[in-house]
Amino acid sequence: MRRKRLFFSIGIGLGAAVMVLGTQAVARVLPGSWQENWDSDSPAQFLLLAPGDSEAHSNSSDPQAEDGKALELVLAAGSAAGPGNGPEIETLSTREYGTYSTRLKIADCSAQPNAGVVTGYFIYFNDGSDADGDGLADNTEIDFEWLCAEPQTVYLTMWTDYRDSDEAHQRVGRAINLQSGEIEYSCYFEAFGDCQRLSGIENQPESVAAMPTYDSSAGYAVYGFQWTRRRVTWWMENPATGQRVILWDYQGLERIPDHVAYFMTNVWHTATWTPPGLPGAVEAPNAPLSGRVDWTRFEPLPGIAFLPLVGR
Ligand SMILES: *[C@@H]1O[C@H](CO)[C@@H](O)[C@H](O)[C@H]1NC(C)=O
Repeated sequence: MRRKRLFFSIGIGLGAAVMVLGTQAVARVLPGSWQENWDSDSPAQFLLLAPGDSEAHSNSSDPQAEDGKALELVLAAGSAAGPGNGPEIETLSTREYGTYSTRLKIADCSAQPNAGVVTGYFIYFNDGSDADGDGLADNTEIDFEWLCAEPQTVYLTMWTDYRDSDEAHQRVGRAINLQSGEIEYSCYFEAFGDCQRLSGIENQPESVAAMPTYDSSAGYAVYGFQWTRRRVTWWMENPATGQRVILWDYQGLERIPDHVAYFMTNVWHTATWTPPGLPGAVEAPNAPLSGRVDWTRFEPLPGIAFLPLVGR
């Protein structure tokens, strides 16, 4: 989903490039890999943003976290709509191709079923430049998103262009109801509401096995995507079995962004994006709602030289 962001011009150099190697079982730790466990009051890799009354707490006690500690992103009651009004984390530096993963639990609004709240885990970069000269700003973005009113469904989206003034854009997206296994759509879009159905190598796999007990707001699950030049693969671990499930294995070169980006997670109020059949799910939260992150991991691609971190 579109977002407007402030870009900070503070100069953070390579000193921020502290490698935090995780305790997770990673088959082979590649140079340039890191994992943030959110078990310290001062995470080395990330900027924590908490506009208005929102809050972002690292090192928050959480018995469901693997190490008992998590990042808590608290969206305040009555928050104004838009990602700029909710808590957000972003890496201090940008990176490109690799595997991005997290163990995450989305904001739970079961006490307010018509709340309009997005939890997003994604990479993003848009500084307004238009290197491909198509009249739309280049927008590097690969998303996992969930609506709290529909916690059984995951929205996967990849953007290459977005123009703020009229919301014209280029993106591909797939929505999957994981409880039923129904792929609700796989489309290429140039506007909100538009849909050109994808087929062939842009629409694989054509089915995803149901996870009957899946509820993204009831418990943690591991989600990830691998971003390469020609292919982006979104996957998750079935929380009931631990098995890796491929959600979308997308190939389509010209629709894959190729600019370095920030690695982010956020929680925000949407007053316009609703699940199918739930047009009333646009309410601001009437009590604080928290998304939680147990850990956040980045691994560069095997065999590709580690790209130096780009400070800003
Ligand atoms: C984490 O929080 C605890 C309090 O719950 C505090 O005592 C500890 O110093 C914090 N750890 C780090 C590494 O910041």
